[in-house]
This record gives sequence, structure tokens and C-alpha cells, in this order.
Amino acid sequence: MKGVEEQYVKSEPNEITLKNGTVGVIRFAREEDAKQIIHKMEKMIRDENYLEEEPESLNDVEDERREIKRIKREGSLYAVVDVDGEIAGVLIFRRGALEMNYHVVNVRTWITEKYRGQGLGSKIMEYGIKWSKDQGVEKICLDVFSNNPIAIQFYEKYGFVVEGNRKKQYILRGDYVDEIFMSKFLGDKMNNRSTS
Ligand SMILES: CC(C)(COP(=O)(O)OP(=O)(O)OC[C@H]1O[C@@H](n2cnc3c(N)ncnc32)[C@H](O)[C@@H]1OP(=O)(O)O)[C@@H](O)C(=O)NCCC(=O)NCCS
Repeated sequence: MKGVEEQYVKSEPNEITLKNGTVGVIRFAREEDAKQIIHKMEKMIRDENYLEEEPESLNDVEDERREIKRIKREGSLYAVVDVDGEIAGVLIFRRGALEMNYHVVNVRTWITEKYRGQGLGSKIMEYGIKWSKDQGVEKICLDVFSNNPIAIQFYEKYGFVVEGNRKKQYILRGDYVDEIFMSKFLGDKMNNRSTS
């Protein structure tokens, strides 16, 4: 599996240039990224509430290392935006664990506050969508809090549509928020159809 991933990375034009001219790269996560990823997530969940995590639910660094390994092993995608050695964001496309839902991936993505609004979210999402098409994924799914219009707009830009809405599913800083389910179809192997 590792060989296939490395080949995939090598074949991809995955260099990105930020507005200030700095060059970064989108690449598969490595075990040694775990420490930075967890530290960035700790800060994000302290400062904002867009991710379905709490301080107690976050992986520790060792668990995240194992998670990076596991995600690779199971044929899912764990990509990072690396700007001069700094992890500016991640995108996880996790395949269904069973044969019956292996055609579906679930998304987790974030860009650190410092790097938002510079097109990095777009680049890593485009990378993930391309990866999904290459890997025969048929459907990309996610859930997003209703108090996160920026993320909803971001997903809509990439053709995600709302599939459902669980009312008052979370309480964030004293307010109820809904959990919105969104998805994007890439193809339909059973009927030999593909969509954009
Ligand atoms: C959602 C997120 C990943 C977008 O990443 P980003 O790098 O800032 O996004 P980009 O700069 O590539 O912008 C892509 C699109 O997102 C939307 N967007 C980004 N910033 C926005 C803003 N401030 N207001 C409205 N829409 C915005 C727009 O549709 C934009 O497209 P456009 O530039 O053509 O208008 C980022 O805001 C983030 O990490 N948020 C916190 C974590 C989070 O919400 N994760 C998703 C949880 S489900």
C-alpha cells in the first residue's frame, strides 16, 4: 500500500504558492507530523468551535501517530498542507470500514487560522477530490455545524449538497446548533455512471 501512495504523491503536481509567494506542498501525512497536528488542533478547539472535538476527546500524539499509520494502511487519505515544515492544514478522507460502504469517504478538514482565506482549503479539497476519483470513491460525505457558514459555503463551492439536518444536535458555548449532513457524488459503479 505504501508504495502505491508514494507513487501517487510523486505523480501529482502538489506544489502550492501562497499569496505572499511562499511555496508549500500538499503531501500525505507522516507519523512525525502527529505532534504538530495535535498541537494545532488543541489551539483550534480552545479558540473556536468548528470541530467535533473537546480537549478530552482529542487524540494524544502517540494515538495520532497510530491513526496516521492506520489511515494509510486501510487505503484512506490523510493529507497535509506543509508550508516550510509547518502544518497549515489537513484533509482526511476516510473510507467506510466495511465492504458495503468502502465506496464512501467521510471528510475531516481544517486550515489553521493564520493560513485561512488564501486558497489552501481549496487546494487540499481539490487534491482530495482528485484522489477520490483516482481511487474509485463514489461518494464524499461530511457533517458540519450549522453555525459554520464559511465551511458550508466552502463545501457548496465544491458541489456538496445538504442531505439532512439533525436539529439541536450539539450545544456549543450555551447555544444549540444543528448538525448538517452534506455529500457529493463522484460516480456510480453499479450503473456504470459518473458524475462531475
Ligand atoms: C473551511 C476552511 C477549511 C476553508 O479553508 P480556506 O483555506 O480558508 O478556504 P479558501 O481560501 O480556499 O476559500 C475557499 C472558499 O471557501 C469559502 N470561504 C472561505 N473563507 C470565507 C469567508 N471568510 N467568508 C465566506 N466564505 C469563505 C468561499 O466559498 C471560498 O471560495 P472563494 O474564494 O471563491 O470565495 C477553513 O475556513 C477552516 O479551516 N475553518 C475552520 C475549521 C472548519 O470549519 N472545518 C470544517 C469543519 S466541518
